[in-house]
Amino acid sequence: MFISKKIFPAVIAVLASANLAFADSPKLGKPLTEAEIKAWDITILPDGTNLPPGKGTFAMGAKVFAEKCIACHGEGGKGGPYAALVSDKEIKGNGIEAAKTIKNFWANATTVFDYIRRAMPWPEPRTLTDEEVYSVTAYILGSNKIIAETDEMNAQTLPKVKMPNRDNFIIKFPDKI
Ligand code: HEC
Repeated sequence: MFISKKIFPAVIAVLASANLAFADSPKLGKPLTEAEIKAWDITILPDGTNLPPGKGTFAMGAKVFAEKCIACHGEGGKGGPYAALVSDKEIKGNGIEAAKTIKNFWANATTVFDYIRRAMPWPEPRTLTDEEVYSVTAYILGSNKIIAETDEMNAQTLPKVKMPNRDNFIIKFPDKI
């Protein structure tokens, strides 16, 4: 940027007064505390980074599901008024028209945890405990026969679950995962 010597002092004056005006702002909002940021910082990366402590089992997940999910996702998660979470459907051909479900489409088991924790149950997201999320994730993965019903899900085991369609995704930035 070119500023002539003549207007330079004027520019400085304007910047200085803008600074002053900022300091003198109506003080809307307030800086967030670490704890407040932590409550919103819930993104889980494909490799499991940021998974919380805790654990869950298929058996406990079945209870959570019957209580909080069945009305929308149906008996055994096979579909109700909303999406089937458990299905054997295969993606054939180019797959564009195929029904995409967790088993035939989702690339990472960690996404199941992240999605449920941030978005479900639909009318009351963020109401499940981490143990409930681990459990209902175990229930969905177990019902899809991706893990055994006896496998416990936690921050170490969940990222190791290999989703059936995992290798058909093209990872744009593999080194970032
Ligand atoms: C009031 C209805 C409702 C309830 C209750 C509910 N969901 Fe959902 N769920 C939805 C809707 C709507 C979507 C997104 C639209 C769709 O895919 O049909 C969805 C999508 C999902 C998906 C993503 C499915 C996919 O393949 O894209 C998962 C996983 C899921 N819900 C899990 C749960 C779990 C676990 C519970 C219970 C803790 C639950 N939901 C409770 C309505 C509900």
